[in-house]
Amino acid sequence: MAKVKKIQIINGPNLHLQGIREPEIYGTKTFEDLLSRCHERFPDIEILLFQSNYEGELIEKIHQTNAEGIPIILNLAALTHTSYALADALAAVQVPVVEVHISNILGREEWRARSLTARYCCGVIIGFGLDGYLLAMEALTGYYNLHL
Ligand code: DQA
Repeated sequence: MAKVKKIQIINGPNLHLQGIREPEIYGTKTFEDLLSRCHERFPDIEILLFQSNYEGELIEKIHQTNAEGIPIILNLAALTHTSYALADALAAVQVPVVEVHISNILGREEWRARSLTARYCCGVIIGFGLDGYLLAMEALTGYYNLHL
């Protein structure tokens, strides 16, 4: 049975401010907190964290991670709702991708309810705060057991 050895988290614009920005929506936990919880829960998996505020850098990171065969946890933030270029990038990807949103994008402004990228992912986890990333790790390991 194939085993996941590495998982790449790719975060989009403004997520470097997690823990500080709009805490009433996104909570006060930081990605540092999350990474230590991930290491506790999945000690055998190397977790790589990438964040960029630039669409082109995110596209390049997706292609590079795909070329390396590493599954992806993806939160493209506002670009989820707007970027055809990122949707096209994901359409070309073979590795499993789980889309995560910290907040419940279906319960907020209408423009957030549309994801241009979700159709290219194996699933989407929304509204569970940073715990969504841990749930995505569970999902990816389960996906591997199921499909590979
Ligand atoms: C987000 C939701 C997006 O609508 C928003 O633009 C973000 C974060 C989330 O994780 O809840 O920046 O992707």
